[in-house]
Order: sequence, then structure tokens, then C-alpha cells
Amino acid sequence: MSGELSPIDKAKFVAARKAASFVEEGMTVGLGTGSTAAWLVRCLADRMTTTGLKFRGVPTSTRTAALASDLGIEIVSLDEARWLDLTIDGADEFDKDLNLIKGGGGALLQEKIVATASDQMIVIADAGKKVDNLGAFPLPVEVIPFGWQTSKALMEELLVSMDVLGRKTTLRMNGDAPYVTDEGNHILDLHLNRIGNARQLALALNQVPGVVENGLFIDICDVVIMGFGDGKIEVHDINQGTVGQEQIDFLESDNLFTDLAD
Ligand code: 5RP
Repeated sequence: MSGELSPIDKAKFVAARKAASFVEEGMTVGLGTGSTAAWLVRCLADRMTTTGLKFRGVPTSTRTAALASDLGIEIVSLDEARWLDLTIDGADEFDKDLNLIKGGGGALLQEKIVATASDQMIVIADAGKKVDNLGAFPLPVEVIPFGWQTSKALMEELLVSMDVLGRKTTLRMNGDAPYVTDEGNHILDLHLNRIGNARQLALALNQVPGVVENGLFIDICDVVIMGFGDGKIEVHDINQGTVGQEQIDFLESDNLFTDLAD
């Protein structure tokens, strides 16, 4: 199979397929946002169809909610669920402590709330997301529209005293207009190049007036499943302190997934 899948899609797919196997009957599962999380939603829908698995999903964006409903997954809101067994999501970067940068897809606020309200968070990612130091990927910060330029200026002032290598901040755009999140907010991307103290930065950013949340996920992720283009996966478990390896086979039926877009 999988002649049609690019190596990066294979990497995302095998990570997603492994993560889907962590979902058990009756669980309430946080469904992340982004292209890797979309593979997860497809793999879960496949398990539902082929094994009759029953579970409820709490989506972290309108995009994920639409995909999950299209595929027949039962959706509940976080307020209905209150607490989740597991959240599975992608990430833009992760380090050896499984701290993350998230929000490249603009859903960091719901993603952080849902992950924090879960017994366990599993991140699925291709191997390119592993970094020695967080910060090469611009750090997304969600701000309310009112006075966003003031919030931006205050954030730039704050960054002067932070252990970072770059300090440029940009307003995320969607064409000619500012990008708008599911909560009606904007996103400032912080081009920091290297973050020396992610924990300190995460706390400090949330003190800036107008900031709703930032994309640093510190001590939230329990397991990263990292996929490779040849079907290999690595399972990094921060609580057990283990790294396991496995090979996931592609099946002819996996072609079902190729024509589904994020
Ligand atoms: C969305 C996110 C995504 O998980 C992150 O951007 C990774 O996306 P992808 O799997 O498409 O690389 O944080 O807000």
C-alpha cells in the first residue's frame, strides 16, 4: 500500500494509528487539531467501524468537530464531559521533557484546556517536531482583539528580560485580515529562535494584559508517539522514563485514508 502517501504523511499516520490503540471502550477522548490530529480522528473512526469501539470525543476546534461528526464519531462539549480519560493531539515542537509548543493551527486555547482536563495527554508527531530547545517554531500567543497592539508592545517589553534569542512579534494574518480564533481572538506569533526557560516564559506571558493563553505546554504531555516515514514509531513516556520502538505495518485498506483532507 501507501505508494500515494508521502513519507511525512506515513509518519503522521503510524503515530496516529498507534495512539488510536490507547482508546478503550467507553472513554471520553480529547481530539486535537491539525493535520496529524486529523489522521487520529480517521484512525478512530476506522476502529469504530471495524471493531465496534464506542467512545465520546471532545473536539478542540470547529475544524476537528466537523471532521469527527462527518466520520460518525459521537461528539460532546467539554462542559458536558467535564473530565476526560485521554487527549490525543499534535504539536509544533517537543523537547526531551515532553514540553511543547502548540498553536500553529490556531487552536491552542481549547487544546490547552482540554488537555489539562484529561487524565493523560498523548502527543502524536513526525520526527521533525523533536527539538533540543523549544523556540525555533514561532510561539503562538492568543490575545483579545481589544488593544492587541498594546498587548503586543507590553509583550515585547517583557521579552527584553526573558532568556530568548529573538524578540520579533507578528500578528497572524488570514489573507488581508487578522486571523480570528474559534473564540474570536487574535494570535501573536513570537519569533524567539531559542527559549532558555520555557516554564518562566509561559508564566510571564499570561501576566500580560490582553493575553488569553500561550502555546507553551509545560508538564501537560505524558507520552509522545513519534512517527517515521518508514513506519517506525518511538513511544516516549515521561512518567515511566521509557522509550519504546515498534514497526507499524501499512495495509491495503489504509488507502481509505488518502483521499480525506484535514
Ligand atoms: C493546532 C496545533 C497543532 O497540533 C500543531 O500545529 C501541529 O499541527 P500539524 O499536525 O498539522 O503539524 O497546535 O493549534
